Amino acid sequence: MRRGRFEFGTAAVAQAYSESVSFDWRLYRHDIAGSIAHASALAAAGILNPDEVEQIKRGLREIESEVATGKFKWDKSLEDVHMNIESALTKRIGPAGAKLHTARSRNDQIALDLRLYVREEITELTTRLRAVQKALLLLAQKHFELLMPGYTHLQRAQPIFFSHYLLAQIEALERDHERLDETRRRADVMPLGSGAIAGSTIVVDREAIAKSLGFRRVTQNSIDAVSDRDFVADFLFCLAMIGVHLARFSEDLIVWSTSEFGYIEFSDPFATGSSLMPQKKNPDMAELTRAKSGRLIGNLMSLLAILKGLPSSYNRDLQEDKEALFDSVDTVRAALEVFAAMLPELIVHRERMESAASDPQLLATDLADYLVRKGVPFRDAHAIVGKLAASGKPLNTLSNDEFNAASDAFGADVHEIFDLRLALRGRTATGAPSPENIERQIARWHKLLVLE
Ligand code: ARG
Repeated sequence: MRRGRFEFGTAAVAQAYSESVSFDWRLYRHDIAGSIAHASALAAAGILNPDEVEQIKRGLREIESEVATGKFKWDKSLEDVHMNIESALTKRIGPAGAKLHTARSRNDQIALDLRLYVREEITELTTRLRAVQKALLLLAQKHFELLMPGYTHLQRAQPIFFSHYLLAQIEALERDHERLDETRRRADVMPLGSGAIAGSTIVVDREAIAKSLGFRRVTQNSIDAVSDRDFVADFLFCLAMIGVHLARFSEDLIVWSTSEFGYIEFSDPFATGSSLMPQKKNPDMAELTRAKSGRLIGNLMSLLAILKGLPSSYNRDLQEDKEALFDSVDTVRAALEVFAAMLPELIVHRERMESAASDPQLLATDLADYLVRKGVPFRDAHAIVGKLAASGKPLNTLSNDEFNAASDAFGADVHEIFDLRLALRGRTATGAPSPENIERQIARWHKLLVLE
């Protein structure tokens, strides 16, 4: 690369500043797969003979296994994964290796490698996402009819089943799953053959390359093909959103594991102690997950900032997408792995949840609904029950006289309102936590997550 117009080598500081092989070496399998597909296309275009293609394939396979076993020596003076592999190949097989870069630029090469990488990682992340969903589902099945207070503004709101809460987490992760699917579709477009910006006078069969690499589509504009990192931004958004979902879930678990709530406890293998306070059991896995969502958001922001204001086509700035991408992938992979292992061991203090759920104030809305059924407009019912609640007396201890003093619409049947299970049984609208609904939802998820 430094031959040709260059008289001098790169300055040591410039080389250290600009090399990417220290991190983009991770793309070696994708780079090699792309090169093998490209070599076949060059043969079809009459640039390589069958023997040369064989030499290239064999050489690249050797390099691949040397990298996999840690034997391959990466050379930072060769800048990136592409030039390291190409130079090693040429050293090994000679002129055939030197022909490989015909009709190709590192601009379309890196676009291809990244798309292959993103596609593969999406498959892996999907599996891990599913594992967390399954762990949540198992917990929901186990604690099917366990009551707890539902919170809004972190204040006791209305009774729910713990399983309803767990199913809510599954729903959020399902949207992440759908987003990943969509991102895979967007990444599934083959850019090779776009060259540096304007293709090449040596014409390769791009559709054939796409087919051999399992792409459904090929890019339709060579300028766009080397510029486009939308699929990386999409992917980083998916990963940030997973992070945000796990952070919210973490926050709930952290709060519920305090002595004040005492609803859950992390198992010993997933909790940490304090170096000073012997009594402490800390929820560090959840806290770290809460924090890591910050870097996932940061990585997305950093890519968007890199892309903003770039001129069209390839610019070296695009090299800076990779560390953010790799970091987000590693972070989410690890978080999902920890959650899938931690959730089955979660200790649930059922009696604490149930006793908190027996707080009659949780049924204040149900009491207002009772008045509505007796013909009182909801706004008036809200005010009447609000006054009763403000009196400080538990609502289920009020006498008939006290109820009637507040409104003559109250009858003797008002006390039935305070049967918690009855209250939940009445919540039958789609999405609401009646036991029948939850049963149906569990069956739906079981079909999707376990049977499929
Ligand atoms: N290492 C570069 C990147 O990650 C590869 C493409 C380099 N292209 C170039 N014309 N310098 O984007």
